Amino acid sequence: MKKILVTGGTGYIGSHTVVALREAGFEPIIVDNYANSSGKVLDGLRAILSSDVRNYEVDCTDRAAFRRVFEAESDLAGVIHFAAFKAVGESVQKPLAYFQNNLGSLLVLLELMREFKVNNLVFSSSCTVYGIPDQLPVTEETPTKPASSPYGRTKQMCEDILRDLSQADDNEVKSILLRYFNPIGAHPSAKIGELPLGVPQNLIPFVTQTAAGIREKLTINGDTYDTPDGTNIRDYIHVVDLAKAHVVAVQRLLDGKGDAVETFNVGTGRGNSVLEVVQAFERATGQKLNYVIGPPRTGDVPAIYADVTKATQELGFKTESTLDEALASAWKWQQTLPANA
Ligand code: UD1
Repeated sequence: MKKILVTGGTGYIGSHTVVALREAGFEPIIVDNYANSSGKVLDGLRAILSSDVRNYEVDCTDRAAFRRVFEAESDLAGVIHFAAFKAVGESVQKPLAYFQNNLGSLLVLLELMREFKVNNLVFSSSCTVYGIPDQLPVTEETPTKPASSPYGRTKQMCEDILRDLSQADDNEVKSILLRYFNPIGAHPSAKIGELPLGVPQNLIPFVTQTAAGIREKLTINGDTYDTPDGTNIRDYIHVVDLAKAHVVAVQRLLDGKGDAVETFNVGTGRGNSVLEVVQAFERATGQKLNYVIGPPRTGDVPAIYADVTKATQELGFKTESTLDEALASAWKWQQTLPANA
């Protein structure tokens, strides 16, 4: 079995990708410092996989500790780098922590990959790199705009680092940059899912916690945007589909296809408004959702969704789940969580 190092492998997208890797016949090896996750995720993974998962409690910015992982795992076929901070609002308050962690971990990782001659990297990027796009849907060629937060800027800078590295004469690292749209939902077993700490900032955990009675009501962030119903439009992709995109990307690298650095949008190609998501949630779960319209949220992009032509044609990647299925899985997961989170 080919070994794939998964940094941030107990996080939301990372944990689902660990499952997808194993199902595709790879051996995922997790590196995580549990900064925004829990060791309990390993229990969920063990239950789904009916076996243990190799894992290291290591901070990727800790060069000496991370180096020991590379020494111990001598024959890595590739790396998927999820480990990063990801809260937009927090990044405005703690920009240095975001630059230090998100850039620092990538730099240490790349140095180690070069030293240990591990040459295949899949990097977690985000549609946030497009800023407020002039045209919809966005293709990979759509020019990036100034990011609306330090978090978004770290993703742009990490992409730049990888593109610059690809130009170096001595570079052997090949990378695929996956620009995620909005991942939602949970594994159908409901043994892993999104675990927000404190009051959720993202839409779907707030929706499911409201339906569960943990939050009184959802506040929709504005309904006067220039969209058909006035609420923001996003491209919501089931996290299980998103996880599979990583397997396809890893396989492409191992097959030696593609250029030194490649970028792919990973979304469904469909845009849904916040109100449509609320309606779909009610339809998919039979739960009535208490919501009010509030003011717009600072920094929100009015509308963004993916053109997925490139991922479809070059990766052969296609999403399988509907919005309703993804929302039903999120609700099933919520029901396994403590009622007073
Ligand atoms: C943003 C970033 C994404 C990043 C993610 C991490 C963009 C385009 N996307 O996603 O790259 O990875 O944050 O957190 O910048 N909403 C409500 N009420 C709520 C919560 C959310 O109406 O209580 C609305 C938001 O205003 C937005 C939509 O729901 O229109 C989705 O919000 P959210 O889940 O936070 O994701 P993004 O902001 O799209």
